[in-house]
Amino acid sequence: MIEIETYPDRESLADAAAEALVDAMNAPGPANLVAAGGSTPLATYRRLSVLDLNWSRVTVTLGDERWVDASAPESNERMIRESLLREYAAAARFLPLKGHGANPDDDAATVEPELRRMVPFSAVLLGMGEDGHVASLFPGNPSPAPDRWCIGVAMSGLAPFVPRITLTPRALLATRSLVLQITGPAKRAIVDQVLAGAGEDLPVAWILRQAATPVRVLWAP
Ligand code: 6PG
Repeated sequence: MIEIETYPDRESLADAAAEALVDAMNAPGPANLVAAGGSTPLATYRRLSVLDLNWSRVTVTLGDERWVDASAPESNERMIRESLLREYAAAARFLPLKGHGANPDDDAATVEPELRRMVPFSAVLLGMGEDGHVASLFPGNPSPAPDRWCIGVAMSGLAPFVPRITLTPRALLATRSLVLQITGPAKRAIVDQVLAGAGEDLPVAWILRQAATPVRVLWAP
């Protein structure tokens, strides 16, 4: 049974998330991190960027991407380059999801083989929307085909309303450590409901309602 780990504020939450990811990346073997998009993890990424890890052995990629140019304000790649891949962490390798394909499906198909070669990931960091979406797996969309690791999403279910690329549940769960980092009462309520047995059709339930991959849920008000 997953117990939500509660922190008194978002600074201590960011400390805890950073520590969990460092522990996962310092484990023996290839080190790779699937980073969350959005805004919640920014403080965590800033903490990681100034830690003197052996970043040259780390590959960073994303759990999902907005299908926009990497210089666009909505780009998760831009966010990761500005918040994580600087200082010591600038030495890490970055695997973008957005490529030069004609559409999100093409880019997803292009990056999928390399993602498959990376698993099991050292760590996956996820955020969650107040609708229960994780990465760019939105409620109401069919569960991805079980043989897929990365897919295109024609349109986001929440802002920014742009096409997306997302890792599938199969890919997100192919990790030694999975951390769900959330803040605020609304997101806490969603996770409480799912852990209590409701919301089984929510994408976050696909992550929480499984026993194969250890999941830590870190929350602050
Ligand atoms: C994205 C994310 C998405 C995010 C949640 C929470 O590209 O937007 O990967 O899944 O984690 O929407 O976003 P916030 O942390 O900004 O609330």
